[in-house]
Amino acid sequence: MLKGKEIILGVTGSIACYKAVEVVSRLRKLGANVNVVMTDSAKQFVAPLTFQTISCNPVHTGVFDIKEYNIEHVSLAKKAELIVIAPATANVISKMASGIADDLLTATVLAARSKILVVPAMNEGMFRNPILQENIRKLRRHGFLFAGPSKGGLACGEEGEGRMIEPSEIVDEVVKLIGARQDLKGKKVIVTAGPTREFIDPVRFISNPSSGKMGFALAEEARDRGAEVVLISGPVGIKAPQGVRYIPVTSAEQMRNAVNNAFNVCNAVIMSAAVSDWESSGCAADKIKAREGPLELKLNRTPDIIAGLGRKKGKRVLVGFALETNGLIKNAKIKLKEKNLDLVVANRASNGYPFGSDTNRVVIIERSGKTTELPELPKSEIARKIIDKIVNIFTTKVRN
Ligand code: C5P
Repeated sequence: MLKGKEIILGVTGSIACYKAVEVVSRLRKLGANVNVVMTDSAKQFVAPLTFQTISCNPVHTGVFDIKEYNIEHVSLAKKAELIVIAPATANVISKMASGIADDLLTATVLAARSKILVVPAMNEGMFRNPILQENIRKLRRHGFLFAGPSKGGLACGEEGEGRMIEPSEIVDEVVKLIGARQDLKGKKVIVTAGPTREFIDPVRFISNPSSGKMGFALAEEARDRGAEVVLISGPVGIKAPQGVRYIPVTSAEQMRNAVNNAFNVCNAVIMSAAVSDWESSGCAADKIKAREGPLELKLNRTPDIIAGLGRKKGKRVLVGFALETNGLIKNAKIKLKEKNLDLVVANRASNGYPFGSDTNRVVIIERSGKTTELPELPKSEIARKIIDKIVNIFTTKVRN
């Protein structure tokens, strides 16, 4: 849920520090990379070694620790998607509200452009103090987010408001802020990927250089957003993602059968596979002998899988790809219409690109004719944009 997310956890001097260790552990279990920044007072409560061991990263403490050529507070601030300050004392809250940057944590906060979540922990009297409340209001106005405190037993022996919320609640807040959206929960999505191979004899085939990277990225994105994913892929050299049903196939015919088997119970099909358009009219039983002169092959059209789905799609969302060397938008629009698709992702093939590349440049075309031209992006980012569009279509289809 937090795979690949960079989080800074700022820990300040409160007895609730020991609970911050569990926050790190939970964030890591969800896939986040956590860098812990401790203030000097925090080090009085929990040893940096504890955080270092749990986070699997060095713990950052001094503003003057300069790593290589990076100024640490700036480099930390740059790479984080979220800064969580838990526990946040009255002292650090008021320092942040005044723009003070006299230690690594406050300097990092001042340099940050990411979201900042503050999780207060203090005595009730301190929390209710009007100066602190004014500082919290000021930080909120500047976009700082707050979670808690809750009411309950405080370290001083009193009962009251000021208790840091529980580690599980802090992690829930983090997931809400930066976690993968679960907007495909309850949906079943088929993704096809890679090339197909059409054998002309036992050792030779017709195929293309598709790497499967786009389809695999789509399957991962759909999975991360809560969908149940069936990934049907031709032969590729990359590892199947975890948490999806993976069906490896070889030929267009096998891909069609696998897609049709899963089709009835699915809500969407994304055909990103580069299905071969032709197959040999009959695969020779033995290896064709090399003789002098040309070899003539008779090729038949393979089943057009997506066109077949388009004829029986019902309420399902159907997404096709169009790889063109010329007339990109015109040809893609024709495919969208003829194959009864909801979306077509058009991309240009030139000098081997985008085969095997980690990036691509695509234009997403909707049924309404709306086109979205994306700059060159990692395939994972393109997958996110395509899934966004699919979610949009689901939402409009439900409304209609
Ligand atoms: O016509 P063209 O092959 O360019 O169409 C591309 C789209 O059609 C892709 O989504 C591809 O997966 C799908 N396709 C198919 N069956 C075929 C050939 C392509 O479903 N035999």
